[in-house]
Amino acid sequence: MTVHRFYGDLAPWWSLISPAEDYVEEAAFAATLLDGARTVLELGSGGGHNAVHLKRRFDLTLVDLAEAMLAESRKINPELEHRQGDMRTVRLGRQFDAVFVHDAIDYMTTEDDLRRAIETAYVHTNDSGRAVFVPDATAEIFAPETDHGGSDGADGRSARFLSWTYDPDPTDTTTVTDYAFLLKENSQVTAVHETHETGLYPRDTWLELLREAGFAPAAVTEVTSEDRTPRTFFVGRKN
Ligand SMILES: C[S@@+](CC[C@H](N)C(=O)[O-])C[C@H]1O[C@@H](n2cnc3c(N)ncnc32)[C@H](O)[C@@H]1O
Repeated sequence: MTVHRFYGDLAPWWSLISPAEDYVEEAAFAATLLDGARTVLELGSGGGHNAVHLKRRFDLTLVDLAEAMLAESRKINPELEHRQGDMRTVRLGRQFDAVFVHDAIDYMTTEDDLRRAIETAYVHTNDSGRAVFVPDATAEIFAPETDHGGSDGADGRSARFLSWTYDPDPTDTTTVTDYAFLLKENSQVTAVHETHETGLYPRDTWLELLREAGFAPAAVTEVTSEDRTPRTFFVGRKN
C-alpha cells in the first residue's frame, strides 16, 4: 500500500496542517459513542490528534501504517502504546472494550479492503464491546469540495494547504483528493502537490459489511457546529 508523502517525509508538518485543536468537537462526539469503554484501540491513529483528546477518558493503544506519523503522535502522546501496522492485517493478539477508526478508514479503496479493516476491528473487540468507524462521507452525502487551512508554529515554521475533492467516476468505490501544500521554513517556501485516492461506500454497504463481520450495526448522524455536512458514524456492537 502507498505511504503518501503527507504521512511520510511531510509528517513533521502534520501538526501545522491539521492542528490537534481542530479535533476537539469530533473527538468529544466520538467519546459519546465509546462511552463505557475503558480500553480503546485506534486503527489509523495518524498524528494522534484524536488520541490527544480521547486519552483523557480512555486507555488508548494506537496503530498506524506510517512510522513517520507514529513518530509525530509519540511527541504529543508519549505515554501511549504505539504500534506500526496495516488495519487490514494487523493482529495484536488481544482485545479491547472498543475499536475506533476515524478518517484513516477512507484509505480502504475497495470493498474487500473495507471488509478486512472491519474484520480487524472485530477480532480486536471484546465480546461485549463495539467498534466505531468514521468515514469522511458516504455515497449518499458525498459532495465535491475544496478546503483550505494551515497554521503558524511556535518554532517559526508555517504551513498552508488547499484540498480539492471530487469523484471522477461515480460508478466506482473511490474519490480523489488533490492536495497543494505550501511549507515555509527559514523564510523558504516549498510547494508540494500530492493526489490521494480514497474509498466511498453507500450507507447500506457499510451496514451489510458490519453485519457480515458479526456486528449488530447502526448508523449515527454526527452532531457538529462545524460548517460541513455532518458525518455518519457507523457503530458495530458485538452483543
Ligand atoms: C488523515 S490521517 C489520520 C489522522 C488522525 N485522525 C489523527 O488524529 O491525527 C490518515 C492516516 O491513515 C493512515 N493509514 C492509511 N492507510 C492505512 C492502513 N492500511 N492501515 C493503517 N493506517 C493507515 C495513514 O498512515 C495516516 O496516518
